[in-house]
Amino acid sequence: SLEGQPQLREVSGIPLQASTVDNWSQIQNFEAKPDDLLICTYPKSGTTWIQEIVDMIEQNGDVEKCQRAIIQHRHPFIEWARPPQPSVLVLCRRFFLVYFKGVEKAKVMPSPRILRTHLPTQLLPLSFWKNNCKFLYVARNAKDCMVSYYHFQRMNKILPDPGTWEEYFETFISGKVAWGSWYDHVKGWWDIKDRYQVLFLFYEDIKRDPKHEIQKVMQFMGKNLDETVLDKIVQETSFEKMKENPMTNRSTVPKSILDQSISPFMRKGTVGDWKNHFTVAQNERFDEIYRQKMEGTSINFFTEL
Ligand code: PPS
Repeated sequence: SLEGQPQLREVSGIPLQASTVDNWSQIQNFEAKPDDLLICTYPKSGTTWIQEIVDMIEQNGDVEKCQRAIIQHRHPFIEWARPPQPSVLVLCRRFFLVYFKGVEKAKVMPSPRILRTHLPTQLLPLSFWKNNCKFLYVARNAKDCMVSYYHFQRMNKILPDPGTWEEYFETFISGKVAWGSWYDHVKGWWDIKDRYQVLFLFYEDIKRDPKHEIQKVMQFMGKNLDETVLDKIVQETSFEKMKENPMTNRSTVPKSILDQSISPFMRKGTVGDWKNHFTVAQNERFDEIYRQKMEGTSINFFTEL
């Protein structure tokens, strides 16, 4: 039954969390600054991973500085708004409410700011384009992304229940998930990458050769770090380390929001887990739809796709 379940609401055909839509005008009017760096991803594509990499680079490999706050708080999530919750402390809530919104957090953050979004290009606040900000996009192959999102929606109590895997398969390919269609998101960012300052990375590349990709991020950020620091960043941002790290593994989020006994946030962190989920028939159908939706793009996911 859908009763009592979190519902998504659409903005220009893109399903989003209701609390985001409630604050839409404030989000759209967000004022970006020319020295902002925006981390952009479709959900479950390696956001947390690239955030930790970026922060380690920013802090010159200082692990303790990266422990200053949980990862969700280090880089404001611009479309995030805390869903209203019943509380007896109405006055107190009113007073603090602003700090539960990504845009408000970003506003009080010192520059140069590093921010984060899952928004597709057409919904991004216009000021990011006007200010020619730097965009760091990470894409992950669609099949693994779908699997990761499925498990995330099972454990995330503020997103709709995904239903069975078979049901979710249809929901995902039709783009009826939060932040919309994977295909449109990836194509949208790929299409603008040569007109703006975009570093476009792939999850699979970071997995295969983390040092090489970390070096690209470092250059993009205008930093210069020693080999030893780079090696340290590679180690500290491994899946195993980040799974154990309370500042990156979401273990501080209440069970009423993320129930990690259903599925851990740091679940597997691998390439190709889709093979453990897709049936042969689903895979054939998926490949056909993928070809149709991605026709005409030069984007190349270096997987079995
Ligand atoms: S979210 O909720 O959209 O911000 O999720 P996001 O961080 O984008 O994606 C979560 C998936 O990324 C995996 N992950 C990693 N993989 C490899 N190395 C590192 N260090 C790492 N950190 C996070 C995480 O395990 C999720 O993927 P799955 O396939 O579900 O394991």
